[in-house]
This record gives sequence, C-alpha cells and structure tokens, in this order.
Amino acid sequence: MALQISPSILTCDFSRLAEELARIATADWVHVDVMDNHFVPNLTLGPAIVEAVHRSTALPLDAHLMIEDPDRWAPDYVSAGARSVTFHAEACAAPIRLAKQLRALGARAGIALRPATPVEPYLELLPEFDMILIMTVEPGFGGQPFLDLCLPKLRRAREAIRARGGDVWLQVDGGVGEKTIEACAEAGADVFVAGSAVYAAEDAAACITRLRELAAAACGH
Ligand code: DX5
Ligand code: ZN
Repeated sequence: MALQISPSILTCDFSRLAEELARIATADWVHVDVMDNHFVPNLTLGPAIVEAVHRSTALPLDAHLMIEDPDRWAPDYVSAGARSVTFHAEACAAPIRLAKQLRALGARAGIALRPATPVEPYLELLPEFDMILIMTVEPGFGGQPFLDLCLPKLRRAREAIRARGGDVWLQVDGGVGEKTIEACAEAGADVFVAGSAVYAAEDAAACITRLRELAAAACGH
C-alpha cells in the first residue's frame, strides 16, 4: 500500500471549516478527532459536525473516537459519513463485535492503542481490523511532543502484520511532523496523522508533500 497522509483538523479554525479543509485537499484522508471529556480530558465534536465535515470535503473521513462506550456510539459515525472509524481498545467492551458491525455498515474498522497499552494482546485480532493506530502521545490534545518510546511498539506491530499477511494499515498519531515522520516510517507506519504540523504551516499542501517525501524516503518507497 502507498503511504498515506491524514491531517487532523483538531487545531484548524472551525469558524472557517470549508477553507481549512480546502487547504488539505491533496491529502489522502481527513482525520477527525472525536473526544467526549470522559475517555480523554477534552471535548470536541460529535456526529452532526462529522456530517458537516463530510459535506465540506471530497476527501474520505478517518474518524478517531476517543470516547467511552464506542460499542454504543461508533456506528453513528459511519452514518455521519466516516469511511474509516477507529475506536480505542481500552474503551471497548467487545472489539471484535464492533469491528464486524462497522465493516458490515461499509466502513473500515480501526483499533487504537494509548501509549501504555501493549500491542501483543491485539495481534491475534488483526484479521478483524483494517487498521491499527499506535498513539505516539497521550490522546486528548494536539501539539504535544512525539513519544519516541512508542517506536518499538510500532515496529512490533509492523512485524506482526508482515508475519500474518493481510492488508492491515498501521497508523501513527501524535506529534508527527517533519522531524519525526521518518522514524515512524522506518518503524513501519504507513498512515500518518499530522495535526499541528500541517495546520501551523503557511502552505499546508507543501507540508503534506514534504511529509510524504520524507516518509517515502525513510522506508525506501
Ligand atoms: C490527539 C489526537 C491527534 C492530534 C494530532 O489526541 O488524536 O490526532 O490531534 O495532533 P498533533 O499532530 O498536533 O499531535
Ligand atoms: Zn487522532
């Protein structure tokens, strides 16, 4: 699979949503961070705003649910237009059931792990998923520094995907930018979320191109 860039709109200017989305039109996905003030100490948006984002861009939506009880709420994000829905392993009661349900609704199913959550218990579950998200910051806020200590986990996830075959994407999220994307790509990530790096750039499209080039060079594509 080709490398993909999924800019997070968490720190964009929501009063100018359509313009902010137009700035990232050359990306592969729009990463939408859903936070409920329970799973993480921050509150962002719900299905109605996801639907508004969907209507404001031609790009597919990559919803990252940082919420309690995704078993109950995640399907609503498919109805709101998300093409990919990722929920946290730590918050989910029945991840296999939920992944099957999301796929049956026509979405890609992703499972996310906080920095302190080991990947090993989830490796056997990989065939049920289209993507695994390794967080490289504690979820909750944009603009935090990248945690290098998550790189070995990323590497182990990539090795497991390679060994088992299958086409599971490996996403990295948190503190990804020009200084850190190469290490992520070397460790095996193939989908890169970048929030503040892209939205703080004067030219977001140029930043996306640069991130893609750096990642491709680092993994020999
Ligand atoms: C953090 C979110 C990330 C974040 C990325 O909880 O899941 O998607 O917005 O932003 P940066 O790239 O600034 O870390
Ligand atoms: Zn995210």
